[in-house]
Amino acid sequence: MEKITAIRGFKDILPEDSDTFWKVETIARNIFKSFGFREIRVPIMEKTELFQRSIGETTDIVEKEMYTFSDRGNDNLTLRPEATASIIRAYIEHNMYAAEQITKLFTIGPMFRRERPQKGRFRQFNQIDVEMFGEDKPQSDAEVIFMLMYFLNSAGLNNLELEINSLGCGKCRPKFSPAVIDFLLKTGKGSLCPDCERRINTNPLRVFDCKVETCASIIANAPKIIDFLCPECEEHFSQVKSFLNDLSISFSINTRMVRGLDYYTKTAFEVKSTVLGAQNAVAGGGRYNGLVSFLGGPEVPGIGFAVGCERLIACLPDENSNAFKTDIFIAALGKQAQKKAFGLTNELRRAGVIAEMDYSDKSLKAQLKKADKLNSSFACIFGDKEIEEKQAVLRNMHTKEQQTIPVDELPKSLIKILKER
Ligand code: HAM
Repeated sequence: MEKITAIRGFKDILPEDSDTFWKVETIARNIFKSFGFREIRVPIMEKTELFQRSIGETTDIVEKEMYTFSDRGNDNLTLRPEATASIIRAYIEHNMYAAEQITKLFTIGPMFRRERPQKGRFRQFNQIDVEMFGEDKPQSDAEVIFMLMYFLNSAGLNNLELEINSLGCGKCRPKFSPAVIDFLLKTGKGSLCPDCERRINTNPLRVFDCKVETCASIIANAPKIIDFLCPECEEHFSQVKSFLNDLSISFSINTRMVRGLDYYTKTAFEVKSTVLGAQNAVAGGGRYNGLVSFLGGPEVPGIGFAVGCERLIACLPDENSNAFKTDIFIAALGKQAQKKAFGLTNELRRAGVIAEMDYSDKSLKAQLKKADKLNSSFACIFGDKEIEEKQAVLRNMHTKEQQTIPVDELPKSLIKILKER
């Protein structure tokens, strides 16, 4: 029979890697909690319209990358390419803004983008996503960026570069966009890729995001949005930088960074790792002050970020610390001993001990070999004869030292020894 394989760009996370995911997620949960963030779990599928409206009709994500389909009831649905839109939808739908002035939320889970798969780029990938609603003060931008950097460092990432920019607001854009269009028409016409030619009229800011080399070299000389900031956005950006300095967060300003989603206003940021290849963005985020109202909610400011879990994990040193370890292997010889071992193994597990046994009544040598394979620290050995004599053997699998344990004291004495080691 022909094998059925996974879909291209969709990857299994095998047990040795899922341990690392679990560790990273636990660090995130603990840190976010101390900053007052609470978990929200949103569906992985939404009405297509939600992403079209929030991310932007003319972004790469919406134009080319979404998994969109009609279900059997002809509803137009999309597997979420990111979590921000879904969280805002939930925030509005559950009137969360009415309950508290500031709402801090995070979610962890899979996102879907039909990009060309390559190292660090998948079609299903996991994000740790954070959103804060209701605060527009520059301290909150610095708080969110500080939390992100603190989390990445705590997860074990060091070689990081934080880049920030300001994308202005509805007051700055009407001055900036015509300047970019003018520049592109004069300098770029005829040399830009077909997508960017089209973007001149539909969404000129997106040209900044183009990965085609000729477009990137043209954009290098384009007007910078930070030269067009209104006084409020300029003051906000300057204060964000000052608060980041106060928190000893180093950063550089990347005036070309616009981020791939349309909803950003004011502060935008990206964290890159110097140890990753082409797909070096570990995290990205920014402020989106108009988005909640644009999706039908009240005028509430927001800021957030998302970390790509697979990329974060790819930056971690390969410690091989994830090999599964067993505390104790129960090696039983004979019918009566096997029966006793079955109860004992499960009793030990109930006490939180990682215990294993073999049901096939193999030779002692074969059973000890299995204990080694399972990376077991100890083996408890007994046969029908030892049960009669009421003495079992406890063997340290590393030092090979052995001691006897009264059968009547099992599992109590084993639990004690294992917990005290
Ligand atoms: P994003 O920059 O599109 O932002 O994605 C955030 C992170 O997800 C990236 O920095 C990267 O690490 C990871 N990522 C993105 N695409 C892929 C992929 N195809 N394969 C593997 N990893 C990937 C957002 O998604 C925004 N929603 C972030 C945000 C939250 N802004 C405000 N709040």
